[in-house]
Amino acid sequence: MSGSIFPEATPDPATWWRGAAIYQVYLRSFADGNGDGIGDLAGLRARLPYLADLGIGAIWLNPWYPSPMADGGYDVADYRDIEPSFGTLAEAEAFIAEAHALGIKTITDIVPNHGSDRQEWFVRALEAGPGSPERDLFIFRAGRGADGELPPNDWQSIFGGPAWTRVADGEWYLHLFAPEQPDFNWADPRVVEEFHDVLRFWFDRGVDGIRIDSAALLVKEMDGGGGPEAYTDLDGVHEIYRGWRQVAERYDDRILIGEVWLPDQERFALYLRPDEMHTAFNFDFLACAWEPDALRRSIDLTLATHLPLGAPPTWVLSNHDVTRPVTRYGRPDTSFDHADRKHGMPADPVLGERRARAAALLAMALPGGLYVYQGEELGLPEVEDIPAELRQDPIWFRSGHTDLGRDGCRVPLPWSGDEPPFGFGTGRPWLPQPPEWKALTAEVQAGDPSSMLTLYRTGLRLRRELLGDGTLTWLESPREVLAFRRDSGLVCVVNLGTGPVPLPDHESVLLASGPLEGGALPADTTVWLRTA
Ligand code: GLC
Repeated sequence: MSGSIFPEATPDPATWWRGAAIYQVYLRSFADGNGDGIGDLAGLRARLPYLADLGIGAIWLNPWYPSPMADGGYDVADYRDIEPSFGTLAEAEAFIAEAHALGIKTITDIVPNHGSDRQEWFVRALEAGPGSPERDLFIFRAGRGADGELPPNDWQSIFGGPAWTRVADGEWYLHLFAPEQPDFNWADPRVVEEFHDVLRFWFDRGVDGIRIDSAALLVKEMDGGGGPEAYTDLDGVHEIYRGWRQVAERYDDRILIGEVWLPDQERFALYLRPDEMHTAFNFDFLACAWEPDALRRSIDLTLATHLPLGAPPTWVLSNHDVTRPVTRYGRPDTSFDHADRKHGMPADPVLGERRARAAALLAMALPGGLYVYQGEELGLPEVEDIPAELRQDPIWFRSGHTDLGRDGCRVPLPWSGDEPPFGFGTGRPWLPQPPEWKALTAEVQAGDPSSMLTLYRTGLRLRRELLGDGTLTWLESPREVLAFRRDSGLVCVVNLGTGPVPLPDHESVLLASGPLEGGALPADTTVWLRTA
């Protein structure tokens, strides 16, 4: 950008990812180019100018591979092709090239823990029968009980119900998620080699990064206990990612991003050692309540975990698995927890939006990478009233319809117009859009200086110029206020209290998440100040 007021903040092209704003595209729900009600590559390509305008540096796409969609594409039937309802491999390559031409990097999602029960390997394993080398690619075991009628152990699926399913010849196979997602056996070198080849396949096609799904779950210890401790974060996973890093290092500038949900930050940090992943999602920050002590603790913990490793932290407010921030922050309990999504807990939409705006400017101002999940920039709320017969998330089915699951954050985007499908496409969207979203379309918001979209556009543009990678210095402030300064001189102040607070000394106000009150910062508001 010309006319930079803080010229030292020029991004280093060799480490584009360290401070990048990465936009997450859930392809099914982004934009539909062919009128079948399902988002696709044609729709995404047509909307690339929107993303370029938003000021993001990279796009991460959820799995785009052929899939029976038992888990929204996380049941991958072929790692080297594109789901036909999304498009073709040629279109994927065109998308990568077009994004690059706009200066946008591309990141694809690789699912190494499990495949699909329709994948050729699994179909052959079923045919080949017990004891075959084909079965060794997965985790097949005999059952317990007189006739093997009980599963091999008591592990439960993360989506609910048992983690084992019995096949016709009496053996059981492991699936930490849905039965349609059989787990691979990472102790078998063919699995290791297969995924190295898949990484090369996509790097050769120009993708700049790989998001690694369920990255901590790959190694299992059958006698390791009855709960998640037997398959979560076992030491053997690190060898796998060292191998992946070696594959990535043979290319220029390609990165590995881990989906690593771990409460223990010291264990989390091990994934970010210099010979493993480049970065990982910051779920501690995502799950954090909108409270000053909790947020300060989360930020400090994040910095303490990352900076000694030289790894950039990331800041994440939402993704395709969690409750939309506008809804979350409007509830009496503003934290996020997979075990209790708080569906149905009343949410104040005005308060939720106000805090989501403040949280966005906080996340954008912190040092490191930033993730923005599609629709976050439009301030979309969680849709909680999707009719039961239209719900698709396996969590809904496997919880016996007690957990609404994640469909509510995956509703197709509203682009324009006064009624569904709001310019998403011409067909009926795969999940229904609320009629009230006519006030939230990208078209309406683009022309409104006070909209969420305008806040994101302005914030992301300034961020590119002034923020991104680096460190922060905390400034003295009352307990309910977070105030810090970035190397560029920008000061970010967040008021998490109940009444207005005075602004620190500054030269000018660069951006605020809401109107200031006679020079003071109102509650649940963030401001960016230029200082000397
Ligand atoms: C990850 C994905 C989630 C998926 C699960 C199983 O957590 O983000 O959407 O259901 O892995 O693949």
